[in-house]
Amino acid sequence: MVKEMIINYVKDYHTMSVMVADIIEDLIAPTPGTHNLPHIKLGLPTGGTPIGMYKSLVERNLTWSAVTTFNLDEYIDIDPDHPESYTNFMWRRLHMYTNIKEENIRFPNLNYDDEIQKAGGLDLTILGLGSNGHIAFNEPFTPFNSTTRIVNLAQQTIKDNSRFFDSIDDVPTQAITMGLKTIMSSKEIIMMVHGEHKRDALVKAIWGKTTPDVPASILKEHENVRVFYCD
Ligand code: PGA
Repeated sequence: MVKEMIINYVKDYHTMSVMVADIIEDLIAPTPGTHNLPHIKLGLPTGGTPIGMYKSLVERNLTWSAVTTFNLDEYIDIDPDHPESYTNFMWRRLHMYTNIKEENIRFPNLNYDDEIQKAGGLDLTILGLGSNGHIAFNEPFTPFNSTTRIVNLAQQTIKDNSRFFDSIDDVPTQAITMGLKTIMSSKEIIMMVHGEHKRDALVKAIWGKTTPDVPASILKEHENVRVFYCD
């Protein structure tokens, strides 16, 4: 198995967003020379980083009828209609503008790994990177063989995500997240990283030791990972 991580240092956020949207467009487009749509399963993130990518995807008016989206994570004890629930985020940023089938919009539950496997596995998973090195809500010291489960959020994550809420006390303290093993089962992975405050975590993940202290460092063990970084 060839393990190769391709790192793209991109000039700005817009360019990064369009480049990743291009990759998704290529994957979900009809098979060349036909009208046949491939059944593509995407692992998708929320947060600040992917907003531009979703905007770019929406502008393209693509056909989503054969796509299934499996979100990486969702807060526990949050109303799906709450403006900051990830279900709501995805609806506002992507799903409402597409012809995706309702049954193909998936969020984590305790049978998620089986559901993903039954659907044929993830073709491409897009990740953000937490300033503490987390991917999805797999916080530092998560075992590499973890599957979908309920987790406590790290203090740093609660602090980072408080910018989306009125007060830090409103940030949920638990979430349900795909595990690291779930993410690593994806055929292809793209990690998007935006901002200088993520540099330390990125350097540790890519050039440091492969260790549960830095969950994203496990990506070095995958054979098909692309990283996009912009300041
Ligand atoms: P952000 O979050 O895109 O809001 O910075 C990334 C993450 O925590 O995975």
